[in-house]
Amino acid sequence: MLTNICVFVSGGGTNLQALIDAQKSGIIKSGRISLVISDKKDAYALVRAKENGIKTRVLIKKKAESKDEYEDRIEAVLRENNIDLIVLAGFMRILSGRFTGRHKNRIINVHPALIPSFCGEGFYGLKVHEAALAYGVKVSGATVHFVNEVPDGGQIIYQKAVEVQDGDTPEILQKRIMEQAEWILLPKACELVSHKIQTGEL
Ligand code: GAR
Repeated sequence: MLTNICVFVSGGGTNLQALIDAQKSGIIKSGRISLVISDKKDAYALVRAKENGIKTRVLIKKKAESKDEYEDRIEAVLRENNIDLIVLAGFMRILSGRFTGRHKNRIINVHPALIPSFCGEGFYGLKVHEAALAYGVKVSGATVHFVNEVPDGGQIIYQKAVEVQDGDTPEILQKRIMEQAEWILLPKACELVSHKIQTGEL
């Protein structure tokens, strides 16, 4: 049976697009993306999912709701859809230890830097590349890792270095890292983990 995948998104969804393309081209063959969950109603990732016939759910955290209550709503949707693997693709929320503990080795994330640099709470999206440029590193890159209770602290699956070039802005560096690392590593890791789940290895 194919591993049933849910992708969590918050924004543009270029990593989701890379996953969809990898599914079409057969790079992802042990799993199937059956659901996209967004915590933002206007995330462009939702358009990408719909254009490709993938079911979407928008789950926005309510002000009156605790983190546990919000995550329980997510949990219910995952159960309803028999999800085996969660892929965080630009999901801009930190999941609690309570949630990640229930999904050990079943959540992977792409981070736009070489962990353990420029990672953890507060390092997301463009902020990561701003910090890398401010520090003056000459290489950065991307990491795909399992998600545990430590933000960006789970076991590393794949990592790829990307050169920083003179005159880079956070936006230029972000795009190079996406093109040269994230969009390649995330589908590869998704297939690897889907395959291990499928065969019972994980
Ligand atoms: C990507 O660069 C992803 O690695 C990063 O946000 C961007 C989302 O872009 N994620 C994080 O910073 C998570 N800590 P996308 O919506 O186009 O895939």
